[in-house]
Amino acid sequence: MTNRVMTRHRKVHVKSFGCQMNVYDSHRMADTLAPSGYAETARPEDADLVILNTCHIREKAADKVYSEIGRIRVIKEEAARAGRRMVIAVAGCVAQAEGEEIVRRAQAVDIVVGSQNYFRLPEMIARAERGEKVVDTDFPVEDKFDALVPPQRETIAQRGISAFVTVQEGCDKFCTFCVVPYTRGAEVSRPVAKIVAEVERLANAGVREVTLIGQNVNAYHGPGEDGEASTLGNLLRRLARVPGIARLRYTTSHPNDMDEDLVAAHGDLPALMPYVHLPVQSGSDRMLAAMNRKHTRGTYLGVIARLRQARPDLAFTSDFIVGFPGETEADFRDTLALVEQVGFAGAYTFAYSPRPGTPAAELDDQVPPEVKTERLHRLQALIARQQRDFNAGFKGRTVDLLLEKPGRLPGQLLGRTPYLQTVQVMAPRSRIGEVVSVTVTGIGTNTLFGAIDENAGAAALAAAGA
Ligand code: SAH
Ligand code: SF4
Ligand code: F3S
Repeated sequence: MTNRVMTRHRKVHVKSFGCQMNVYDSHRMADTLAPSGYAETARPEDADLVILNTCHIREKAADKVYSEIGRIRVIKEEAARAGRRMVIAVAGCVAQAEGEEIVRRAQAVDIVVGSQNYFRLPEMIARAERGEKVVDTDFPVEDKFDALVPPQRETIAQRGISAFVTVQEGCDKFCTFCVVPYTRGAEVSRPVAKIVAEVERLANAGVREVTLIGQNVNAYHGPGEDGEASTLGNLLRRLARVPGIARLRYTTSHPNDMDEDLVAAHGDLPALMPYVHLPVQSGSDRMLAAMNRKHTRGTYLGVIARLRQARPDLAFTSDFIVGFPGETEADFRDTLALVEQVGFAGAYTFAYSPRPGTPAAELDDQVPPEVKTERLHRLQALIARQQRDFNAGFKGRTVDLLLEKPGRLPGQLLGRTPYLQTVQVMAPRSRIGEVVSVTVTGIGTNTLFGAIDENAGAAALAAAGA
């Protein structure tokens, strides 16, 4: 790094699309650019560098990128008229999937950077500023995470008391509808010691909750502190011992990787929240086979049962795809029946979107769009009802709440229950980061209302100054 770069103060605007992996990567890109003099800005108009961290999972997600580039191009042209050069970089899964095609299709783009190459950004920006078009979508041998710069203490604090930490990346499962194995590459797990160090740094800066993320987070098998391959269960046990960490979560899991150790961890780790996102995609064995999910309806239900046995208050969310090629009304009803049987606290539902290069996109018996839409609405109605029932069940109950941030009203804080429900309570800002006991007094559409139960502990009473 040259002195010239060190002394310049510039601004970067990073916009994330898609999953939590991208949110994490966006933070790490901003952190990696900080030593080159870049401060983050929420306004693209103020930025010298705009990074669009893109998602390729469904057609709509990928299309969004080009409309966003169009919007930023206008800002770039205005900047140029004012004599200021703006660099536009496209990162993430569309960058990985489309590469050079992006600079051909959208002339305003200067840099296309795949998800494994973010550590090279400072050098790529220098080249782009000299007028080069830079495209880098290799899968390099360097460890992506080692090469990225960790966040400053103040930056961690600004980002709040709940943080994501990527522990594994990539996927070897090749579900026939999915682009992830192509855009993120083969499954790679980070070493336990590196993850522990990252979580300790976060905890020292005030983080109280960590969500471990990965496309297949429970396939985690990184080298442990003893050199042996660790499991996600082991990793969670280790992280539960990091001082300051009150809550642990992980996402997204695959049903086939839900091993005994992880199930047991749910039974005996109080810090591990009883809320699991476990995508099933369909309730029809015929569809699951065509999707290459390698699990059946029965094995999925078996996993749910094992988890509930270990931790009876566990709640589940899931992902569903309707209208996969060849899906009949009977197949779809199998999905509805599975939802009825499990009872979800919520779910993401998607109409199947054919993705270039994936096997399912080549199948003949594509489901007509209006049928997909109709099934999507029926499934969404059922899940919305389950979600309402789940939340309504909390009225009058006492729950633990992690106080996260100020609410809209003065004197109000927003916190999260173990099930990620938002609860509004009256409490001073000084209590952000505390886990308090709350009685739920009301149920709104998107939030619950509660009152802190000050009798729950003498310490809480003293802290409230009551
Ligand atoms: N690794 C995770 C998440 C993958 S992407 C998993 O295995 O579950 C998140 C969700 O997007 C998937 O669970 C799936 O429901 C949905 N999805 C992926 N590809 C899709 C496609 N081509 N069309 C519609 N939905 C899709
Ligand atoms: Fe995609 Fe399937 Fe891998 Fe999930 S498990 S990322 S849905 S290929
Ligand atoms: Fe999208 Fe890539 Fe995540 S395709 S869902 S941003 S892994």
